[in-house]
Amino acid sequence: MTRHNIAVDGPSGAGKSTLSKMLAREFGLIYVDTGAMYRTIGLHALRSGVNMEEDEAIVALLPQIQIHMEYDTNGNQLMLLNRENVSSEIRLPEVSMSASRVSAIPQVRRYLLEMQQSIARESNVIMDGRDIGTVVLPDAGLKIFLSADPEDRARRRFEELQQKGVSTSLDEVLKDMIQRDHNDSTRAAAPLRPAEGAVILNTTGYTLEQSYLALYELVKRYMED
Ligand code: DC
Repeated sequence: MTRHNIAVDGPSGAGKSTLSKMLAREFGLIYVDTGAMYRTIGLHALRSGVNMEEDEAIVALLPQIQIHMEYDTNGNQLMLLNRENVSSEIRLPEVSMSASRVSAIPQVRRYLLEMQQSIARESNVIMDGRDIGTVVLPDAGLKIFLSADPEDRARRRFEELQQKGVSTSLDEVLKDMIQRDHNDSTRAAAPLRPAEGAVILNTTGYTLEQSYLALYELVKRYMED
């Protein structure tokens, strides 16, 4: 059977996870959120109280960490950190920043790479992150790069956090987002950038439905190949 793997990359708040989940459901793919893996390591680092500026201290934590991914009956990806379900906690703003920090460390990236690649060997996936098309699945048959203006992305993320009852302000979300975009795209290890051959979609001003329709056609054509 031919593997159908789709790589979705882009900055935070571009709609990657919402759209990937919808497409996974429509086309019978497994949705893999790799940001959740970095967030889980970021959460462990925060909890352990290490100095977040010290790469070696963060790398030294890796042997204590067991990460497992499971899916609930609705197909939502759950993250387990040493058997504890941390799926909600990893969405907190302070964990976003910590995830961005730990994700710049090459050893952390290497630690997660094999896990990500082995999932894609076993199933047809739509995997989202920052380096999926460039590093994790360079042979993916379809690569998508989603972007949108920072103000648009911050507004979407702010609304999402509000719905979850997280107290924050739009300004704070925008400031964090710009900082994270900068970290994620200027780091030496697997920086965020469109993969060669990626279809680039800028969703500024699009509704979710408009973005979904644009991607639906693309994925449909690919899945029928
Ligand atoms: O997609 P997200 O916001 O949940 O990701 C959290 C952080 O993890 C993000 O700031 C960058 C990092 N990340 C990464 O470096 N590579 C990936 N494939 C996915 C996420």
